[in-house]
Amino acid sequence: MKILIKNIKQLVQVEHQPQLRLDGPAMKKLFCLDSAWLAIEDDIIVAFGSMTDWTGISDWSNLTIIDATDKIVFPSYCDSHTHLVYAGSREGEFVDRINGLTYEDIFARGGGILNSSSKLQDTSEEILLQSALTRLDEIMSQGTGAVEIKSGYGLSTDSELKMLRVIKKLKSISPLTIKSTFLGAHALPAIYKNNKRDYIDLLINEMIPKIADEQLADFCDVFCEQNYFTKAETIEILIAAQYYGMTPKVHAEQLSNFGGTLAGIEVGAISVDHLEFVGDQEITALQNTKTMPTILPGAAFFLGLPHPPARRMIDAGLGLAIASDFNPGSCPTGNMNLMLSISCIQYKLTPEEAINGATINSAYAMNLSTTHGSIAVGKKANVFITKEIPSYSFIPYSFGSNLIETVIINGKVTKQN
Ligand code: NIG
Ligand code: FE
Repeated sequence: MKILIKNIKQLVQVEHQPQLRLDGPAMKKLFCLDSAWLAIEDDIIVAFGSMTDWTGISDWSNLTIIDATDKIVFPSYCDSHTHLVYAGSREGEFVDRINGLTYEDIFARGGGILNSSSKLQDTSEEILLQSALTRLDEIMSQGTGAVEIKSGYGLSTDSELKMLRVIKKLKSISPLTIKSTFLGAHALPAIYKNNKRDYIDLLINEMIPKIADEQLADFCDVFCEQNYFTKAETIEILIAAQYYGMTPKVHAEQLSNFGGTLAGIEVGAISVDHLEFVGDQEITALQNTKTMPTILPGAAFFLGLPHPPARRMIDAGLGLAIASDFNPGSCPTGNMNLMLSISCIQYKLTPEEAINGATINSAYAMNLSTTHGSIAVGKKANVFITKEIPSYSFIPYSFGSNLIETVIINGKVTKQN
């Protein structure tokens, strides 16, 4: 099966020498080819170039030709942080916040993550699977080609395993590339209210070994925050997970400056995510590390949190990834186009920086940047073609519009409007 996309107005994010990640000033550059063609064979990008250099095709068998006149081709977005396996919804808490409660107030009343956790206990694997597939279809039509999905609404051995088995099934039936993360340390379940130590022991001595045994998680994450898990607990849990082959990630500095970023750096986390309350100390500490700072603009927007200092981080030379945080409590959408818009409009990222953040750097944050996140020969054929638009900046500019016309995943056309 072959696809040739020709007359492309602009082929975005092309790489001749693929990079694993882009840091600081390198994020300002977005390499594009005007008036281009792109060739796909099976699920791989095999060639691209300028229409002026195009010498034609020798073998026309099994070839689909797509004319992209006045349209732009992007590599699919990579969404390196979601919780999109969940039961029910939480619009009641949304209304409570409109009426004056905070995210922390709602958690203190037994809501928030604990609300999703009790809903999940009563929901079958089949229903979780079907609802997650619907969400995956939605984000795929909005341009996402690879996604990380966390557990963390189980909070017991059985329910965490249930979530992770659903994610494993999604990996085998969804065309999207999926990475899985164990987030048992998302909140302290009510029954452990007075014995946090016992819950941490359960995570380390029972859940992590069982999950490793079934090979259910690529990463392990901890919500490092007041009333959730301390910096020392975060380090302890992540070191245990690392021993079992899971790469660390951290929910860091979302509601306060609480040590999550430094914990992540200490254990060599692949990413530290949220960062609304990150300060100069963390920005300095992140320099020259392998840890990718990741912002989740939808969650900060939805909860009305302060903006993360994204501009300051890039200006200090750091890389930055952008992800959605798709979840029922703090970001009930996985639309990466909207994440680009918020990053540009509220955090003053340039469109080039935002697109790099949502493609190559978010691919890095889930250990996929050798195969995803740019248009390069040999990479996965996950791309989208826009409607007729004047330039790539029109995507973040047109917030709220759906400008994606055709989605190609694994070299197959999956959406055509
Ligand atoms: O990334 N901060 C912790 N976890 C999620 C929210 C989960 C929820 O409220 O259900 C987040 O924002
Ligand atoms: Fe999250």
